[in-house]
Amino acid sequence: MCGIIGINSNKSVSATIINSLKKLEYRGYDSAGIATLSNGLINEVKSEGRVDNLEKNSIVQNMEGNIGIGHVRWATHGLPNSINAHPHSSQNVSVVHNGIIENSTLLKKFLLARGHKFKSQTDTEVIVHLITENLKTENIIDSIKKTLKALHGSFALGIIFKDQPDLIVGARRGSPLAVGYGPNENYLGSDSYALKSMTNKITYLNDGEFCIVKKNHVEFFNDDGVKINKKVLELSSEEEKYDKGEYKHFMAKEIEEQPLTIKNGIDEYIDTANNDINIYNIPWKRDEISSITLVGCGTAYHSCLMAKYWFEELTSLDVNVDIASEFRYKKNRFKKDNLYVFVSQSGETADTYAALDLCNKNNMKTCAVVNVIESSIARDSEFVLPIHCGIEIGVASTKAFLGQILILYILALKLGLLRGDLEKKEFSKKLSDLKNLPKLIEETLLIDNKIQNISYTFNEAKGSMFLGRGFSYPIALEGALKLKELSYIHAEGYPAGEMKHGPLALIEEGMPVVVLAPRDNYYKKTISNMQEVIARGAKVLLITNKSKDEIVSENIWETIEVESTNEDLLPFLLTIPLQKLAYYSALKKGFDIDKPRNLAKSVTVE
Ligand code: F6R
Repeated sequence: MCGIIGINSNKSVSATIINSLKKLEYRGYDSAGIATLSNGLINEVKSEGRVDNLEKNSIVQNMEGNIGIGHVRWATHGLPNSINAHPHSSQNVSVVHNGIIENSTLLKKFLLARGHKFKSQTDTEVIVHLITENLKTENIIDSIKKTLKALHGSFALGIIFKDQPDLIVGARRGSPLAVGYGPNENYLGSDSYALKSMTNKITYLNDGEFCIVKKNHVEFFNDDGVKINKKVLELSSEEEKYDKGEYKHFMAKEIEEQPLTIKNGIDEYIDTANNDINIYNIPWKRDEISSITLVGCGTAYHSCLMAKYWFEELTSLDVNVDIASEFRYKKNRFKKDNLYVFVSQSGETADTYAALDLCNKNNMKTCAVVNVIESSIARDSEFVLPIHCGIEIGVASTKAFLGQILILYILALKLGLLRGDLEKKEFSKKLSDLKNLPKLIEETLLIDNKIQNISYTFNEAKGSMFLGRGFSYPIALEGALKLKELSYIHAEGYPAGEMKHGPLALIEEGMPVVVLAPRDNYYKKTISNMQEVIARGAKVLLITNKSKDEIVSENIWETIEVESTNEDLLPFLLTIPLQKLAYYSALKKGFDIDKPRNLAKSVTVE
């Protein structure tokens, strides 16, 4: 999941490429690189780590050339160092790539036998040499066609040629790629977001297509090399401005913004005048859906797990949840009356997109719950429910998680009402509780100092566990994920009732264990499970909600009480202390909170 930019202009491009790469860093920050063409030569500069490192390089600062390509990398093949950084170049060709070439080992063997010398450990370098090889006998278009046909796997490519001062080739299979149009210059980018500061006129390539980007003209081809016409889309020209403000990190800001996230969602989706939910345009009739499958990755998968409880509680639909990377390869029984819901902040996650693509190819009903409405998943879904939480920069998802579960809850309420599973009176009561949620989140966010102190204990531990039952179980998983990705502490989320079937063996004296036990149907059972871990020496942080009833339990290390509301909405509130716990723990360790090691915001490789 790397980021690609290409610019063909009548003025110098290096500074603009660097600026665009900064916007693409959410796709990877292992290394960055740029190649331009000037005086008939390819100049290439690459550096390990962030775009900032590349920018500081004095060669980049004086780099000439009106045509160039740039790349930010999330390493797949080969170490994250400057040798493996893109672009990769021969004397004739320079290439940036997002994706994975699955037959690179075989192709490399073939190319080595023909005398090509390799410098890096990447799969991408075979593309460079294959084009160079094909150019010996073919013209540009035919060499590209031949090269693309030989590649297995997924790619978005940007390619420049030593002898072609007015031409960038872009190609797409699997990984998204967009073309942008400007005055006397045209662009190539991994997505419209990277191009937004330059243009709002965009064409998206479809799978198998490639293009030739000239300064004043762009040509598109299908995979047989036949010229095709494509539409130019005009996107909103408003660039979303987003900075850290008074906060140290985007994540801190995004946690604190959550009352607003929920308020925006409520304003968009609740039709107060009609006491209804403003999803009136569902493209399927009530009886056309009898089951639902929710698909996502990581935090978005946890949103799906959370929603399963709500759909089961509020509707009579059968509900399945799948991790996208599993869904896409397993034997699925596609059913006409099943609704497939794809949940994704970025809308570009490769596995989630592939799962959607599979459903589309099988003519299934598809719905996207996404934050980025111009994304591939939103574009290719039949029905889109935007999250409206604004741009999220911190790699660890926080406000997008609450945004996703809000929309899924709202969808469950709406389908429950439409199907007659939920009485209007109960529906109205739930809507009215929902309207209070932003205020309750705001109050819960005030729990702060206590969590800061608690996070010390987690930092000193070898590992920790997060336990919950029912509605709280997906939140336990999410809490554990946040802690491990930010603080690099082993953390495991588990259903509290399952501990006795194995994981109890992990509990030892002083191990921090978070127990989520809100006053819901599961409360008493979870408290019993909590006693079992306390008895084995665990230091328990109990997170519950305020109640007039005392907590009847001894030897609890720490207790945090969130605000109270109806049971459906408690998961929103329980999430807040867990996000803060992970944040403060990483802060104390001095880790890079907004860009944790080995990760990227948008995961565009499978
Ligand atoms: C974790 C996190 C990831 C993402 C996952 C899916 O904090 O953010 O687990 O949730 O990579 O990303 P999207 O939602 O963009 O599909």
